Amino acid sequence: MINLKVQSALNDQIKKEEFSSRLYVAMAIWCETKGYPGAAKFLFSHSEEERMHMLKLVHYTNDRGGKAQLAHIEQPDDEFSSLLDVFEKVMEHEKYVTASINSLYEVTVHEKDYTTMNFLQWFITEQVEEESLFNNILDKIKLVGTDKAGMFHIDKELDGMAVAPAPIV
Ligand code: FEO
Repeated sequence: MINLKVQSALNDQIKKEEFSSRLYVAMAIWCETKGYPGAAKFLFSHSEEERMHMLKLVHYTNDRGGKAQLAHIEQPDDEFSSLLDVFEKVMEHEKYVTASINSLYEVTVHEKDYTTMNFLQWFITEQVEEESLFNNILDKIKLVGTDKAGMFHIDKELDGMAVAPAPIV
């Protein structure tokens, strides 16, 4: 059974993952309307991954005798100056999520909730992978600069990187 402090911290993270899902839809919409269909497909699929993260936390909270709670979600920004701007903001957001997962982990350490500590290992690894993925994408976008042919190629590459999310476990 999780205690109320851990439950509250898990619910905070649920809100952040749900916001991430919504933010990436807002970014995907921008990409789709600005002529980057591949980036849009990638971000739509990444939004689904964030929803999967949210549900993973929801199920865990409920399974441990707690109660997951949905919260009011702020309106995400939906105006960007370039594809580089979009992915710089994705990176910034993922760093924020990593810091948030680390804070959640600290709560579980403080509360000696070893089961939740173990559960959070998946998220810690996931954040390392996500930051690395977005760093690679950012490097490529920076490399081509404003070259139109290069941007076209990156958009195609992002199209191929869109993945169906793994089932929630
Ligand atoms: Fe669920 Fe991209 O962090």
